[in-house]
Amino acid sequence: MISICFVCLGNICRSPTAEGVMNHILKEQGLTDQFRIESAGTSSWHIGDPPDERSESVAAERGIPLTSRSSQFHSRDFSRFDYVIAMDNRNRSSLEQIAPNEEARKKIHLLRKFDSNSNPRDDVPDPYYGGAQGFDRVLDICIAGCEGLLLHLKSEHKIGE
Ligand code: 4NP
Repeated sequence: MISICFVCLGNICRSPTAEGVMNHILKEQGLTDQFRIESAGTSSWHIGDPPDERSESVAAERGIPLTSRSSQFHSRDFSRFDYVIAMDNRNRSSLEQIAPNEEARKKIHLLRKFDSNSNPRDDVPDPYYGGAQGFDRVLDICIAGCEGLLLHLKSEHKIGE
């Protein structure tokens, strides 16, 4: 069982989208049983909230349900995951600051690093204060990133060979 936590700032837009997308891809590929997927925020601002309606609606249009409730990522959570996937560089630095040790720090990666068509240091842009287009773009970026991440994990962990 491989455990992954996607992390953004509020855990209501980008990381719930990545979580929903990853679960959707895993289901399509019959790999659900081999993974545990969660998401969290570096802030406490939206704890308990469902995903933003704008994220939910663009994902629903493509048949992807977003079912998470917002939670905050704590230092102790590093021990619960094999991979901690940050949506942007700010989230990555926040995670690095609370990582308890080198083993934890090594679990942190930027999502877009796994998309071969992106610059590996690119952010998933924060859509919160923008228009509907931004949410569609976040969804596209999450799909490309999660597809790349899964390819990487399948090869790294010899899944489906
Ligand atoms: P997220 O987006 O980090 O993708 O969930 C945001 C959600 C809320 C806020 C900022 C970004 N906020 O300022 O409340």
